[in-house]
Parts: sequence; structure tokens; C-alpha cells
Amino acid sequence: MVNIVIFASGNGTNAENIARHFAGSKLVKVAALFTGNPRAGAIERMARYDVPCRVFSREQWNCPDEIVDELRRLDTRLVVLAGFLSMVHKPIIDAVDGNIINIHPSLLPRHGGKGMWGMNVHRAVLEASDCCSGITIHYVTEVVDGGAIICQRRCPVLPDDTPEALAERVHQLEYEAFPAVIEQLAEKL
Ligand code: GAR
Repeated sequence: MVNIVIFASGNGTNAENIARHFAGSKLVKVAALFTGNPRAGAIERMARYDVPCRVFSREQWNCPDEIVDELRRLDTRLVVLAGFLSMVHKPIIDAVDGNIINIHPSLLPRHGGKGMWGMNVHRAVLEASDCCSGITIHYVTEVVDGGAIICQRRCPVLPDDTPEALAERVHQLEYEAFPAVIEQLAEKL
């Protein structure tokens, strides 16, 4: 069994989709949700699948000894960032031998980097009049949105799109691709 830990800061629809996908799996166990936001919707969503949650303070994320200890205690083999907004520091990356992945709601390197998350990304895509957008699943390094790309999926940007409509289309791509990528990586761990 490959234990994964999900990091999420917000609503948590991707986290829930992953928990649902792997409920009853013989390959992957979602061992915990880690967050920095005690009001994250992800907490309640994961509780529906009996996934325990740990809330860590800003100080703990910045100096992550306790987070590393907890990852080790859970025998974590893969960390999955699903709408996680804090910086991930090197000790966390090292604790899982670099097996840490993120999902980003655009076709990196377009619209990535600091401050580019959630709706900010979709607004930037529309402001740039891009004809398509999509998702990128990539390894996490200390460079924000800079790690090696594992997979990308694209979708059209429609003439009358709002950021919300585009976000919905992009979310559908995320729900399809993210559990499949996690499964492929877990098979090799
Ligand atoms: C997702 O679209 C994810 O790609 C994005 O946040 C959203 C979280 O939605 N992540 C980033 O922007 C990271 N830079 P969710 O909370 O409903 O899963």
C-alpha cells in the first residue's frame, strides 16, 4: 500500500475527488490531509472519507520539522498538492525523496509563478486572450511551478467565458487526470 498525504488550503474538491477515487483501493491509501487553513472546506470534505486532518501554523510550514516528523510517522511515499497555497520548503521535499506533485490550473509555463493560483490564473488567461487553457501536473521543487512536468491536458477558452466558467471546465480536466497520474506514480513506488 502506498500512503499519500494531500496538502490543500481551500475548497478541496480535488482532494475529495482523490479520496473518493481511492476509497477501498488496494494500491493507494490517503493517509491524511495537511493544511494551514483551519477553515479550509477540504477538512470537511475529507472527513466524509474518514481521512484525518492536521492543521499546521504558518511557523510550522516555514520551519517544517514537525510536518516532516508527521510525514515520516505516516510512512508517506507521495505528497499531493491539491490547491495548496503556501510555499513548500526543502525538508518536506526531501522527506519524500522528491515524490511530491502539484496541480496547476493552466498550461505551464504560461500563467505560473508566485501569486498565480485559482481564479487569478483564469483571469490572467482571459486577459491574455489565450485560445486554450488547461492543467499541468508537475513535480514540486523550491521554484514555484518550476518542477518537471508529468502531464498536461488542454481545453478551449470560449469567446464568452467568465473566469468561473473557465474554472469549471479546467476543474473537470483536473478530476479526470489527477487520480490517474497518482495511480501511475504509485504503481512505480
Ligand atoms: C485547482 O484548480 C488547482 O489547480 C488550483 O487551485 C484549485 C483548487 O480547487 N491550484 C493552484 O492554483 C496552485 N497554483 P479545489 O480546492 O476545489 O480542489
